[in-house]
Amino acid sequence: MKKGLFILSAFTLVFGMFMSCGSHEQNNQPEAIDAKSVFESNCVLCHGGNGRAMLAGATDLTLSRLDTAGIKNVVKNGRGNMAEFGTKLTEAELEAVVKYVYAFQIK
Ligand code: HEC
Repeated sequence: MKKGLFILSAFTLVFGMFMSCGSHEQNNQPEAIDAKSVFESNCVLCHGGNGRAMLAGATDLTLSRLDTAGIKNVVKNGRGNMAEFGTKLTEAELEAVVKYVYAFQIK
């Protein structure tokens, strides 16, 4: 009986360590931004999942020739029918989505 209790508590301890280890890993990366989901929740509406949708007069992002600074400027401040995202996205989200969009370009 006592031995069973010991094994049970030892198991609980090891399992608890394993579980806290898992969540600790996530806490180590609070800065990690999922660029794809930022793009999907803010840009797909007009640019489409592959950047080519051109809805509401949106630019085909695969044909864009802007560098990352130029893309950031458009995304941050808006242009024409495109709203500005400077107030909606954090700086880290902006940086991430700019890189994501830059990668659409066919060189
Ligand atoms: C309401 C529709 C809409 C949404 C949402 C939208 N865009 Fe746009 N986007 C446009 C339009 C329209 C243009 C063309 C602007 C113009 O005519 O000057 C454009 C242009 C751009 C350009 C310029 C490309 C070039 O080469 O000139 C980039 C880069 C861009 N969008 C990225 C994004 C990103 C990143 C997001 C999400 C954060 C986004 N867009 C969300 C409509 C949209």
